[in-house]
Amino acid sequence: MKTIEDLEVAGRRVLLRADLNVPLDLTDPDNPRITDDGRIRASLPTIRKLADRGARVIIMAHLGRPKGADYAERAAGGPSLQPVAARLGELLGRPVAFASDVVGEDASRVVAGLADSDVALLENVRFEPAETSKDDAVRGEFATQLALFGEYYVGDGFGAVHRKHASVYDVPQRLPHAAGDLVRAEVEVLGRLTSAPERPYVVVLGGAKPSDKLAVIANLLDRADRVILGGGMSYTFLAAQGYEVGHSLLEADKIPEVTEIMAEAGRRGVELVLPVDLVAATHFAPDADHEIVSAKDFPADREGLDIGPATCELFAEKIADARTVFWNGPMGVFEFPAFAVGTRAVAEAIIAVDGFTVVGGGDSAAAVRSFGLPEDAFGHISTGGGASLEYLEGRTLPGLVALEADDPSSTDAPA
Ligand code: 3PG
Repeated sequence: MKTIEDLEVAGRRVLLRADLNVPLDLTDPDNPRITDDGRIRASLPTIRKLADRGARVIIMAHLGRPKGADYAERAAGGPSLQPVAARLGELLGRPVAFASDVVGEDASRVVAGLADSDVALLENVRFEPAETSKDDAVRGEFATQLALFGEYYVGDGFGAVHRKHASVYDVPQRLPHAAGDLVRAEVEVLGRLTSAPERPYVVVLGGAKPSDKLAVIANLLDRADRVILGGGMSYTFLAAQGYEVGHSLLEADKIPEVTEIMAEAGRRGVELVLPVDLVAATHFAPDADHEIVSAKDFPADREGLDIGPATCELFAEKIADARTVFWNGPMGVFEFPAFAVGTRAVAEAIIAVDGFTVVGGGDSAAAVRSFGLPEDAFGHISTGGGASLEYLEGRTLPGLVALEADDPSSTDAPA
């Protein structure tokens, strides 16, 4: 992969794909509040580097998953990147021009108005249905329009490299391109986990659904020494062992697959560690009544919203001797303080490890920051949730494939 240093960006228009998909508090829809700006901050070094070298930087990014995928949705309060442009400008300490469309009149106006070292952000690229189209020709046509804005492409949105989307996969096929510093750093760190991790290698997985993670767990049985499972996904594993899980998150159709994974772990001598107690709440609410129950005795009318204290202790013990840790996914509903205890306990146990530790995923990273834990206490906090998991699964990531490919023929390159 080429790097920014390989491109002569001074005075050139550089299309930069960043991942600025940050969580928003929409309690007041007229005044959306960014609750964790980690991904914006992680994108700053590449943006600064390009601007400091005199590039005209045009940033493409997505926010959320707009369902109608069009501007009408924005008019109805859909996920506009406007607040992100404002925050980016504050953090960069220079104005960020915002285009209210992606390839429309306003984007053309904003791009044409850029001087050297200026930075612009286009509106949510997913407001254009072609961005996420499964039809190569539809995506390609849109990518050609986007590519007209730039003379170079820099891919730095690690969190989106697993998406075969126009701004991730098709635009770099149309412009001379390079990987940004964030993508390079992420690939280097995750590469360390897949090549020769120091042992014991402990993986901690949480989050809502096992369906998102079964493939990675299956793959990790080849590499990890111990896999710790908590959070919403663990209820399907507990149910597979025959335990009651009440109204907790459950993917009943995944029980056969989960059962097979548990058997395979046993055959390979990989230790799978599950919760032994849970916080059972009356319903999903920050102030719901709750009690600690044994995982074997879960009340049928309750919902599990966190791991219990004995599980916190057990997980901490199972993490303590690790030389390498990868953690993805919260242990409970950490956004509600009453149910954040387990996630915090896991974060603290990982901080105490004498070894290489990686936090992967928007939610786990946001949890670490919301607890006020020092980010530099971890070896690396990845900006990629799905992307880091798919990397660890060993899957081919379209955004990386596109960055690794040769530039389009030199006749297409800028004069
Ligand atoms: C993420 O939040 O993991 C990335 O921004 C990718 O978003 P997506 O899962 O909606 O494609």
